Amino acid sequence: MPPLPSIETTADGSATLRSSLHGDTYHSLRGAVGEARYVFIEAAFACSVANPVRILEMGFGTGLNAWLTLSEAEITGRTVEYTAVELYPVPVEVAMRLNYTADARFMLLHTAPWNEWTEPAEGFRLRKFQGAMAGVLADCDFSAIFDLVYWDAFAPDTQPELWTAEIFARVWEATAPGGTLVTYSAKGDVRRALQAAGFTVERLPGALGKRHMLKAVKP
Ligand SMILES: C[S@@+](CC[C@H](N)C(=O)[O-])C[C@H]1O[C@@H](n2cnc3c(N)ncnc32)[C@H](O)[C@@H]1O
Repeated sequence: MPPLPSIETTADGSATLRSSLHGDTYHSLRGAVGEARYVFIEAAFACSVANPVRILEMGFGTGLNAWLTLSEAEITGRTVEYTAVELYPVPVEVAMRLNYTADARFMLLHTAPWNEWTEPAEGFRLRKFQGAMAGVLADCDFSAIFDLVYWDAFAPDTQPELWTAEIFARVWEATAPGGTLVTYSAKGDVRRALQAAGFTVERLPGALGKRHMLKAVKP
């Protein structure tokens, strides 16, 4: 088992984790909630008209993206089918110390069983796969089913294998026509890898003063 991640506080007061294995933080130190809301909710979830909206997340981690999606879906009256993949699940005792909400359903996201559909909140179905993203994409029949992909891997310099044209080609196959992938990274190599996989890629202003982020659409 990898050593436990440590908790850090970001500039907007929200917590993040630092991976003892990779050295990276799970979010921008400028604001975990601010970044997640901007990149995944405002640039993706809020722009999608699918209902139910079927989401694939690379890296469940703290559960923050799932939580913000659940909250936004509730406010906007949408239903969600959320598939998340995680190789190194955050232990429950660490998740309990994250300061995102006092709502007990946040912990239900963490305690939900792996590898099966559950419904931790009304209208929010969750399926978490424990394993490496490349293996899950290879093993599961995700043929053109996702409306949104939250690509939230550690940085390309830390985990280059999660930002290649080969893995994005698998993600492209899993994405529905018209579906969208968003990521906080705007690295040129990432943009080219997404384009090589078949996505049409747009650079958007990034979160919290970051210059750019990427939004990639499957035509
Ligand atoms: C940048 S963090 C983001 C996590 C999450 N989205 C969040 O908001 O907390 C990246 C996540 O990817 C996970 N991860 C690393 N390598 C992975 C792999 N090969 N397959 C699936 N998950 C992986 C890490 O354990 C970590 O939880």
